[in-house]
Amino acid sequence: MHSALNEGNALDISEPRNNFPLQAGHETFLFIAGGIGITPILSMIRHCERRGWPWRLLYLARSRAHAAFHDELSRFGDRVRFHFDDEAGCLFDFADASFTLEPGVPIYCCGPAPVMNAVGDFSSSHPDNPAFFEWFSPPAESGAREVAAGFDVKLQRSGQVLHVPEDRTILEVLEEHGYELPCSCREGMCRTCETGVIDGLPDHRDYVLSGSERAAGRTIMICVSRAKSPMLVLDV
Ligand code: FES
Repeated sequence: MHSALNEGNALDISEPRNNFPLQAGHETFLFIAGGIGITPILSMIRHCERRGWPWRLLYLARSRAHAAFHDELSRFGDRVRFHFDDEAGCLFDFADASFTLEPGVPIYCCGPAPVMNAVGDFSSSHPDNPAFFEWFSPPAESGAREVAAGFDVKLQRSGQVLHVPEDRTILEVLEEHGYELPCSCREGMCRTCETGVIDGLPDHRDYVLSGSERAAGRTIMICVSRAKSPMLVLDV
């Protein structure tokens, strides 16, 4: 843009992508915000308010002074539960008996990695409470990831078969062979490179697909994800 654009140039742009959409159709929502993670959550709360959808918020912050929008949120009374680490003398414990959730209530969470991981653990042990996350950056790996193996991809439209070696991504291999595919973050976070899977078993390594989307295995983020089967057939 710095070197090629001039005043008056027309550009094609797309709509903003939303990887953290609020799904309608739930009786109530639980929002969990950690620190500045309140920013997307506050928009969701305003969205619910405009539509009369019930919601609750658990807002975790280091201190009252670190809790942005504290006054605005305080007006919602007991629908907002604050936890300030300095006043409580500890981090919030999701195993605490005071944290209960009715089955079916979805959780929308944004905050630092420890909060997101704790909520993910809670959701894993409470499958009736699906959790959705907004990551600002890829989370650190908690353990050594399985060594990537090579595999083949077959491109359904041309029938071409390409090998993806262990040190390359599907996207890189396709680009090396002249394919121009949409991509942006190259970190499995933006969903721009989402590609249909026609056959084979994806090894999902992104941070945007929901649990049910992963299980269905119908799409894959080709910038980071790989294959568990010897071949993936892609809708390319
Ligand atoms: S380019 Fe962003 S998820 Fe693949």
